[in-house]
Amino acid sequence: MASEARALETEQQMTDDERFSLLISVMGANPITPVRDQRIPAGVPMSAGYTPGVPRLGIPALLMTDASLGVTNPGYRPGDTATALPAALALGASFNPTLAREAGGMLGREARVRGFNVLLGGGINLARDPRNGRNFEYLSEDPLLSAVLAAEVIDGTQAESVISTIKHYSLNCNETNRHWLDAVIDPDAHRESDLLAFQIAIERAQPGAVMSGYNQINGEYAGGNHHLLNDVLKDAWGYTGWVMSDWGATPSWDYALKGLDQESGVQIDVMLWNTESFVAPLQAAYAEGKLPKARLSDMVRRILRSMYAVGVDQWGPAPAVDLARHHAVALDTARQGIVLLKNDGVLPLAADTTARIAVIGGHAQVGVPIGTGSSAVVPPSGYAAVVKLGGPGVMGAARNLYLLPSSPLAALKKLLPQAQIDFDPGMSPAEAAMLARRSDVVIVFGMRVEGEGFDLPDLTLPWGQDAVIEAVASANPHTMVVLETGNPVAMPWRDRVKGIVQAWYPGQAGGQAIAEVLTGQVNPSGRLPITFPADLAQTPRPALPGLGAPWGTPITIRYDEGAEVGYRWFAKTGAKPLYAFGHGLSYTRFAYSDLTVSGGETITASVTVTNTGMHEGADVPQLYLTDAPGEPRLRLLGFERIELAPGASRRVTITADPRLLARFDGAAGQWRITAGAYRVALGRSADDVVLTAETPLTPRVFGT
Ligand code: BGC
Repeated sequence: MASEARALETEQQMTDDERFSLLISVMGANPITPVRDQRIPAGVPMSAGYTPGVPRLGIPALLMTDASLGVTNPGYRPGDTATALPAALALGASFNPTLAREAGGMLGREARVRGFNVLLGGGINLARDPRNGRNFEYLSEDPLLSAVLAAEVIDGTQAESVISTIKHYSLNCNETNRHWLDAVIDPDAHRESDLLAFQIAIERAQPGAVMSGYNQINGEYAGGNHHLLNDVLKDAWGYTGWVMSDWGATPSWDYALKGLDQESGVQIDVMLWNTESFVAPLQAAYAEGKLPKARLSDMVRRILRSMYAVGVDQWGPAPAVDLARHHAVALDTARQGIVLLKNDGVLPLAADTTARIAVIGGHAQVGVPIGTGSSAVVPPSGYAAVVKLGGPGVMGAARNLYLLPSSPLAALKKLLPQAQIDFDPGMSPAEAAMLARRSDVVIVFGMRVEGEGFDLPDLTLPWGQDAVIEAVASANPHTMVVLETGNPVAMPWRDRVKGIVQAWYPGQAGGQAIAEVLTGQVNPSGRLPITFPADLAQTPRPALPGLGAPWGTPITIRYDEGAEVGYRWFAKTGAKPLYAFGHGLSYTRFAYSDLTVSGGETITASVTVTNTGMHEGADVPQLYLTDAPGEPRLRLLGFERIELAPGASRRVTITADPRLLARFDGAAGQWRITAGAYRVALGRSADDVVLTAETPLTPRVFGT
């Protein structure tokens, strides 16, 4: 309330020119907009967005930077470097809210020390399509998991007095022609899926700003979507912060009437739509009485309110950044995010092994890859290598193979000093097979460059890597594969390899984390935050509409799976995925016993988890709704990551958010729980249920 009152008081003292000055951000000089915009004063560091302050009223300028995987820098501030976290999917795979908070704090501190008071983080779009080039920037396919982790990241950032966004509101779930993409969905199903993720995260963490997406939703652009911005976000949820557009997503001034409060990166709007909508056109609309004074004041107050609530006007000197601590956050995220998908007894490699080990492919002698686009971070010691890839469209210039200097090969040599380790680049199947044949064990890397602006054509590993893996597996039965990708890939060789490790983009400590998992120094505990389909035919859209259409082609993607995203879709269709949501192996074993469940307003379940194996390890027991009255309905209701010593037990209690037990009733604008018995399961993954129970719930209509 204090920030609300202060915002009101300050706004009343402003001139209209001052009010309008807050409503846009200007993009810093970078390879896409190389000429420095004169509106950015000398001395202001280049970054994604700059909004001037009003010094006479103590309003600071807004300096905005990307984003979720570290403070990004390519092109903006040559020479600047920052801690490079793993892909957000790795954080998703950790199922660890405490780690998410650490990551958020790290991002906030590294933004603040550079003078950035807005972090464009909080990417939370659900991974609906395994071809989406930006899934690596998002947390999961599940609304609850995404919301819980995003809220902690945002909270961590804002605790450092840096405003965080949450983005991209909403349904920006594919990159294909994203500026001309109409994402069609049933509105109630939208509330039960992507919007529920936003709703829970927003109510938990109160991010200062919401960034709207590039796409249309049911025919209206996200930034001008009256229903989503005014009816849902601001009215139903009571959101008090501001809505900023994505960069180049404000074609018209009247988006201000539809709920947008700030136009971002105005130069991109000039490139795409030939206008700076919230400059002259918005001012003209105001002069003509088309933009009411009350709305102008509301836009400004929302921005001021978030500034005051997060405290960006109260900054003293920035606390010093502890880069070693931040490196540890990157390392922990990689350690907890790596998922052991398959292990037929080849892992872990013994520390004192004298085996001949072949390491093949993936530039493993150099480092680990990252995803590309606005989230790309230059790590503290710079990139180990950059290979320019390119591609059509605005983002083509930003598509590179970037390698972070954390070599899995070097890390393995360090952890296995008595082994004889040789490297082959994996350029040709025949050459790789020669080394594999004379080795005892083979570790072959598969990688893929994924990034903003590009959907993937299919699930195939590029550059002939499948052929290399096939050849190596034929040459040596003791072959394992490490995947460095931002999405599931097809694994035609799956039955012929003994181990598969999903390492995502593992960040600046990724090489070390991979080696630690392979050698058992770290017991793997990651669980898949997205379903790995056997092939695209199992997914809701075997063919992606518009894929490959030239830049500028209007396309429509129907998200007809509605709320049945990912594992829910597989449950509905009965298809068997390659690896299910929640799956992940360990070097120890866990048993579940004594499931008790109570109903009423919501479901609370307790279970005892015991480490029955030989090693210390972390488990993630998962509670699912499997059946509602009259229909099967799979929903993750809760989870907890717990560490247990061998032989130790812990009782875990999970209480479900009642919205996960309800359906959204659009006509009533509320959530509805129908009477009857609800069946839940405690499982190791969405398709590996161990214990089940049933409980009645009280029928009710609640919330908004
Ligand atoms: C991306 C946003 C990003 C913005 C600013 C856009 O292209 O979609 O996620 O925050 O650029 O760099």
